[in-house]
Amino acid sequence: MVRIVGGSNTEELAGKVSEILGGAVIGKSVKKFPDGESYIRLEDTGFEGEKVYVIQTLFPDQNESLIELFMTINAVKENGGIPVAVIPYFAYGRQDMVFEKGEAFSLKVIASILKALGTEMVITVDAHFHRKGGDHDMFGLHVKNISAVKKLRNHFGNGFTVVGPDEGSRNFLSPLEGSVFLKKTKKIKETNNQLHYKINVESKDVKGGSVLLMDDIISGGGTIISAAKALKEQGKKVSVACVHGLFMGDSLKKLSKYADEIVSTDTIKSPCSVVSVADLIAREISE
Ligand code: R5P
Repeated sequence: MVRIVGGSNTEELAGKVSEILGGAVIGKSVKKFPDGESYIRLEDTGFEGEKVYVIQTLFPDQNESLIELFMTINAVKENGGIPVAVIPYFAYGRQDMVFEKGEAFSLKVIASILKALGTEMVITVDAHFHRKGGDHDMFGLHVKNISAVKKLRNHFGNGFTVVGPDEGSRNFLSPLEGSVFLKKTKKIKETNNQLHYKINVESKDVKGGSVLLMDDIISGGGTIISAAKALKEQGKKVSVACVHGLFMGDSLKKLSKYADEIVSTDTIKSPCSVVSVADLIAREISE
């Protein structure tokens, strides 16, 4: 029987994965002490030498989720299990290098801690860091980056031109053929740590009346809103799809002005998370 532990913010997805694999999620108590410190206790500990899959996404509450993940991995290890971290949305993945001298290398910090805790491997979905699917070595940690792109695309019918909002979405969209990529021509301003771009769209690049605009992450929404607006101004029917819908602030409301529909997966739970990645994760676990 496959052993699965869910994270507090990933209970539903962990339940779905477990159901597909015919198991039950191991019970876990998560408490907060009055001073804010976390406490975790697994309700089943009889997994000597077995793999235990800890399914914990890292949004919302990235930092809280990380502590919960680290402590759960430790609890598995302390009880003789072999911890595998299943991280549907891998927060801090965008700080996948030191861009400016003096910055912390966030992704390296997280990978190093997971490795030090004895994590056997990480399974994640469309993580931004490697920008490519498949198996990777991340600072000595084995990471399997699975793609939800085809599943997300298949949610929509035929007759769409798939569009990436910028050149950076090329690797993410590489499982699909014939995608068109828009160009971020220049950075126009930065407010509240959010960049706003002017997107230059040449109509010859985007054929057809219906567009499926796809990105890996929608966070502040600046990238996708600019792209959707430009396409809408060309008279297109614009459907938007992303794997990880963080939808910060009023981004969903703003995006709705230009998008006819907005769909995300359940790596992060939101009103748009109608495409489940549970079967993709279950397949990876059972391989
Ligand atoms: C960037 O490289 C990513 O693929 C996304 O386009 C970006 O993270 C989206 O961020 P935001 O929604 O804040 O524009």
